Amino acid sequence: MTSKKFEIAPVDGPLGVLTPGMGAVASTFIAGVCAVRKGLALPVGSLTQMGTARLGKRTDGRSPKIGELVPLADLTDLRFAGWDINDESCYDAACRSEVLERSLIEQVADDLKAIRNTPAVFEQKYVRNLHGTHVKHYSTKREAAELIREDIRRFKKELDVSRLVMVWCGSTETYIERQAVHQDLDAFERGLDENDHAIPPSMLYAYAAIQEGVPYVNGAPNLSADVPALMQLAWERAVPTAGKDFKTGQTLVKTVIGPMLKARMLGLRGWFSTNILGNRDGEVLDDPESFKSKEVTKLGVLDQILQPDLYPELYSNIYHKVRINYYPPRGDAKEGWDNIDIFGWLGYPMQLKIDFLCRDSILAAPLVLDLALFIDLARRAGMRGVQEWLSFFFKSPVVPPELYAENALFIQEIKLKNTLRHLAGEDLITHLGLDYYYGE
Ligand SMILES: NC(=O)c1ccc[n+]([C@@H]2O[C@H](COP(=O)([O-])OP(=O)(O)OC[C@H]3O[C@@H](n4cnc5c(N)ncnc54)[C@H](O)[C@@H]3O)[C@@H](O)[C@H]2O)c1
Repeated sequence: MTSKKFEIAPVDGPLGVLTPGMGAVASTFIAGVCAVRKGLALPVGSLTQMGTARLGKRTDGRSPKIGELVPLADLTDLRFAGWDINDESCYDAACRSEVLERSLIEQVADDLKAIRNTPAVFEQKYVRNLHGTHVKHYSTKREAAELIREDIRRFKKELDVSRLVMVWCGSTETYIERQAVHQDLDAFERGLDENDHAIPPSMLYAYAAIQEGVPYVNGAPNLSADVPALMQLAWERAVPTAGKDFKTGQTLVKTVIGPMLKARMLGLRGWFSTNILGNRDGEVLDDPESFKSKEVTKLGVLDQILQPDLYPELYSNIYHKVRINYYPPRGDAKEGWDNIDIFGWLGYPMQLKIDFLCRDSILAAPLVLDLALFIDLARRAGMRGVQEWLSFFFKSPVVPPELYAENALFIQEIKLKNTLRHLAGEDLITHLGLDYYYGE
């Protein structure tokens, strides 16, 4: 089977980035873009801004920046709007979140003050530790979705853009399993009219975006577009989607160390991961029902990476525990601590300890940027449905039901860069390299 070639439409005018949820991550992303545009800081952590991709042979010396390989929207062409349950501006959110220094925020204050939150579709039973005041009123979920769709159309006019993308930066909702209402579009549409509990607000935003032809990215562990009904809708509406749950700190490290252990056939007995954080996200995750959503995406990666069915002597009976503790003094400066009990030759035990003193939103903000630009690229290239090549950015990559997700970071990176090469009409890089020794 030959793979599909994609024609990429040029970047035509500005791109509107819509974020349901204007909290720490969204405000750090927007303030960061404004600061970079003014030359106040560098876009560190952003693949689209700083990354390159090698083309051809190692001897060719061709490693263009990613933005030169494929046409991406320029930072100067980004415009922003979003929803939140707090009646405030992006400036207020940035100050309240205490991620960036006040002196930096003040230098982009005018830009941030101009971005005011639109009232949200919110139901407290899905985020039990938050109380919304700036919310929409509706009697059915169908009506709620229609209100979001109206907002999207209004944003398009107000921002004066022909292209929009939506990146969910809202809170982690309570855990919901896939069920009958998610299985196909007819059932989902009935669920909207019948106010089915298994359709939380994040799913309404995803549905509204896809219906409006707006690419949708999910940065939280919420199911959102990760259900057959919305995958079907995205395919039918030719809309690309990606998710879920930004891979920023501890799971980023786990998906590097896990593959390392397996690559060297080192065994694993236990992996205890704990976190302390004190931001609003930490407060939301203090509710066991929201934590459960996060726990599922954080726990899932090891099993897939280590494949205990193939290596039972090394990876069956692993004790894997993930804890998140809300600890206000730390604010956004999270500490992710891992204790890993491994074993080597003849079963001799060893330990690895990793203490990642990170900053949650500083790690997440460049991912919002990259995902917004890449999902817009996907749309212009005519790519539709689940965009697995963006799994590099997610803790729990969304894949169609018949596939398992690839979680190892460097496999994800190769997949992403080869997709970019493919889009640019360049040869894929297999890393075989025998031609350097034996000729073509
Ligand atoms: N920072 C990271 O490293 C990271 C990593 C992975 C995932 N995430 C996820 O990203 C999301 C955002 O994180 P954050 O630190 O910005 O949290 P935050 O609490 O600062 O911001 C989330 C915002 O979403 C708003 N919100 C909640 N429900 C909403 C709704 N229905 N509509 C509109 N707004 C709504 C809240 O009022 C809040 O302002 C969380 O779900 C978090 O779990 C963050």
